[in-house]
Amino acid sequence: MRLQDLKILRIQVLAGEHFWIEMENRLSSEVLPGQFVHIKISPFLFLRRPFSVASVSQGRLGFLIRCAGTGTALLSEKIPGQRLSVLGPLGTGFPVRKRWKKLWLVAGGTGVASLLLLLSLLQKLKEKEIVFFYGAVSKSLLFRQLLPPGNYLRIFTTDDGTSGQAGSVTEPVRKRLITGEKPDVLYGSGPLAMLKELSLLCKQYDVTGYLSLEARLACGTGICLGCVVPIGDANNWSYQRVCCDGPVFPAGQIQWERFLPVEGKSVKRCSLHSRHHETEKQ
Ligand SMILES: Cc1cc2nc3c(=O)[nH]c(=O)nc-3n(C[C@H](O)[C@H](O)[C@H](O)COP(=O)(O)OP(=O)(O)OC[C@H]3O[C@@H](n4cnc5c(N)ncnc54)[C@H](O)[C@@H]3O)c2cc1C
Ligand code: FES
Repeated sequence: MRLQDLKILRIQVLAGEHFWIEMENRLSSEVLPGQFVHIKISPFLFLRRPFSVASVSQGRLGFLIRCAGTGTALLSEKIPGQRLSVLGPLGTGFPVRKRWKKLWLVAGGTGVASLLLLLSLLQKLKEKEIVFFYGAVSKSLLFRQLLPPGNYLRIFTTDDGTSGQAGSVTEPVRKRLITGEKPDVLYGSGPLAMLKELSLLCKQYDVTGYLSLEARLACGTGICLGCVVPIGDANNWSYQRVCCDGPVFPAGQIQWERFLPVEGKSVKRCSLHSRHHETEKQ
């Protein structure tokens, strides 16, 4: 883990209050898929904000970000050349084992960010049979252009049926499991409801699963205990920290009935739509 002021190299506006941001990488030569960084966006925001590393290439870190509130709106207003204080890489990554040959990656919405890097890594490994399930609300929010090229099966879904199969991304997963297909491991990242559904499917069909959880983070380094979630067996569980024990946890260990999702009021003031489509500066 390092703390560095990193230069923004590129910001590209995507659809629906999403944007892609690239920064120079002086954190680490190796970022594990599933890890994240904690970014100080403004001196007026006390807490840093966490974002999954979506790509690592040619000395650049890439992030897919959705304007969710004040911090992300301010981040969307940055321009190439500006520097941000970045702490990372943080957290556990998705485990990868040589013996796992059949791999299913299930991404929902902005959660695709943490699976993009995993997909790139798995592509480079031999004898892997990968199915990438990716669901979004609507066609414009399926960021197909971010997927690395390669020889893997892609299954798309949209809630409104404008692209791919209509309905939730967990449905094609369920259908395959019902017909007797089964991966050696399933990786998931997305909204809590989707992750809960994947957890249940993993349990029902005895699938090894790893899910990336989100929680509101404060310190991001394991000190404040502000990000805990209930993890363990039904009779033997404890609170673990999303920021350093996670964000990736075994699907069967997440005690959903004891889980208290944080609800809050979004303070959106995202100015992406009035912004120039793409800005880049080396
Ligand atoms: C490990 C991790 C990785 C993440 N990776 C990404 C990513 O790659 N791309 C991305 O767009 N977002 C990601 N997030 C979520 C992102 O950190 C939050 O959307 C962001 O911090 C919101 O900051 P804000 O100031 O814009 O919103 P705020 O003004 O602080 O809050 C706006 C709304 O968002 C909700 N919110 C804030 N933080 C979170 C959170 N962590 N989880 C769920 N809801 C939250 C609030 O309850 C509120 O309703 C990640 C979160 C974690 C914990
Ligand atoms: S955010 Fe402080 S312990 Fe996780």
